[in-house]
Amino acid sequence: MGRGYHAQVKPLGAGRATHQARSMVVDVLDRAGVGHDAAYEAEVVVSELVCNAVRHSREPYEMRIISAHGHPYWCEIFDGDQALQNLPHTLEKLSTKGFSSTLDGVSGRGLEIVYRLTAGRCEFYPGHCYVAPRPGKVVAFALPTRYSTSLASVQQSPSTPGPILEERFGSVLVGDVA
Ligand SMILES: Nc1ncnc2c1ncn2[C@@H]1O[C@H](COP(=O)(O)OP(=O)(O)O)[C@@H](O)[C@H]1O
Ligand SMILES: [Mg+2]
Repeated sequence: MGRGYHAQVKPLGAGRATHQARSMVVDVLDRAGVGHDAAYEAEVVVSELVCNAVRHSREPYEMRIISAHGHPYWCEIFDGDQALQNLPHTLEKLSTKGFSSTLDGVSGRGLEIVYRLTAGRCEFYPGHCYVAPRPGKVVAFALPTRYSTSLASVQQSPSTPGPILEERFGSVLVGDVA
């Protein structure tokens, strides 16, 4: 990894986080020539993940879009709490017991929507905020390309890693998409 990899980092304000994140992903995917259907699905996933960050975690919030050689391929939502709560349990249930297994009256359907739309390719891992020296966690998924008819059809080559270690980026752009 290294020079060919770039991260666009968008700090998300608590009151406007979902709106900001949706705008960014739609803008980036539009510029990358991604079709409306797949981009819309990515927007829905981003909405759910940012809603979860705001509802179940705490600031700071960040959205990061990772590109390889100019092609956006990985989207991370960072939040400032390392506690995973029911996140692993819910994803585990979805992978072993299928859909609607998580509706226990306490949790909603957010991760089920994410799981369905990404065909189960939603990951979480520890991370650090870019703009403030704070630990937290990241929930992430693979973005569609211009060849994707849907988010679930995204092919990731085995050599393309999902979670990216921050120090390996060739460059990091903080703020609005140029
Ligand atoms: N960013 C997050 N931080 C902490 N816990 C989370 C996060 N995202 C999801 N979770 C956990 O996973 C559970 C399931 O999430 P979800 O399916 O979206 O339902 P809901 O948000 O309605 O509770 C949440 O109730 C919470 O315990
Ligand atoms: Mg939710």
